[in-house]
Amino acid sequence: MRHVTLVQLFDHPITQKYVKRSGMAHAVACAFHAYRLAIKHNVDPDRATKAAFLHDIGHYTWYKNGQWDYNLYKENDIHAIKGSERAHKLLIRLGEHPRTAKEIALAILLHTDSYLPNGHLELNPLQHVVALADEADEKPGGEHHYHKISDQKARRMLSLLDKKIESHLKEKFIERTM
Ligand SMILES: [Fe+2]
Ligand SMILES: [Fe+2]
Repeated sequence: MRHVTLVQLFDHPITQKYVKRSGMAHAVACAFHAYRLAIKHNVDPDRATKAAFLHDIGHYTWYKNGQWDYNLYKENDIHAIKGSERAHKLLIRLGEHPRTAKEIALAILLHTDSYLPNGHLELNPLQHVVALADEADEKPGGEHHYHKISDQKARRMLSLLDKKIESHLKEKFIERTM
């Protein structure tokens, strides 16, 4: 059973404020990639799509004299850490199961290693799927953050994805009980 839907997440003012900052079109595209990849890698699509949808919720605006300062961003960015905590708080508020909220928060924390010291991360399958979903929508020069989508279309697409997830989970449930 799902405790929270993607549409519920979309409708929340926190999502509207912070996911829009990094790009709603990118978030929706990543959620769709995450669904496809979750099925392929046998990962729970509910968690994968939520983590992918919220993965960039932690972005801060690095402006200097009205211009985006990429160097300032590169040096100081912690959007994965910030986003992990922000998404966790939002999910818990909406009534998500604490175990699911923790797994989603961890997948967001590890969706990029750009802020971490050099080294190698061992990602679990859910974390791997979320990182792949982000990469699948990445465009050169960070252009994916600037793609536009209307509120209506974003909401419609997420509602479609909610339905896909629900029927997939129902099928899985029937398989298990047969
Ligand atoms: Fe990111
Ligand atoms: Fe991203």
